[in-house]
Amino acid sequence: MKLWAATKNSNKAREIRQILGDKIEISTLLDVPNFPEIAETGNTFEENALIKVQTLWNYVREPAFADDSGLEVDALKGAPGVHSSRFSAPEPSDSKNIDKLFAELKDVPAAKRTARFRCVIVFLDENGSPRTFEGTLEGLIGFERKGTNGFGYDPVFILPGKNRTLAEISAGEKNLISHRGKAVEALFQFLKVRYNIT
Ligand code: IMP
Repeated sequence: MKLWAATKNSNKAREIRQILGDKIEISTLLDVPNFPEIAETGNTFEENALIKVQTLWNYVREPAFADDSGLEVDALKGAPGVHSSRFSAPEPSDSKNIDKLFAELKDVPAAKRTARFRCVIVFLDENGSPRTFEGTLEGLIGFERKGTNGFGYDPVFILPGKNRTLAEISAGEKNLISHRGKAVEALFQFLKVRYNIT
């Protein structure tokens, strides 16, 4: 089957293709010349994913999905959440986002630095009917950066019981346990049944 993914991020597209395999042919916003920027104005991951996929669906009117994800830190009452990529606005970067996270957690001891990555996928079928899928990954925010793989908050996200960060494992290992990997896998299981993919 053909499936649209509402992303311009080629790393994400690669991760998604790895999980969905070759029976599902993924097209992305990069395949639509001059597709306008989509403003992520929602208050939840689900709202943002719906905004993104609805914008794409209105254009292609074929099965499509979008994901939205971020980091929720318990000691910060769930922040940065939907603001994860823009945490250090007005000129955010992955590195500045981590610096800000360390600053806000400076008085928080190791045991209270619990956090999770959350990923929500909204899929719209050929009729525009929605289905939602979700994946989470629990962990702890460290006191220093470790590892060079991955992106975003990976170097400070410690896997429970592993004493390693997400930036210290391979992309393949991350796909198996990550919030996005789990949400895409749930979408895959649904698509297999819905579209008779064997
Ligand atoms: P989005 O889903 O592309 O909007 O990602 C939101 C932001 O959440 C990213 O820019 C990162 O800051 C953070 N984030 C989401 N998933 C991950 C991950 O797997 N590792 C590290 N950071 C992530």
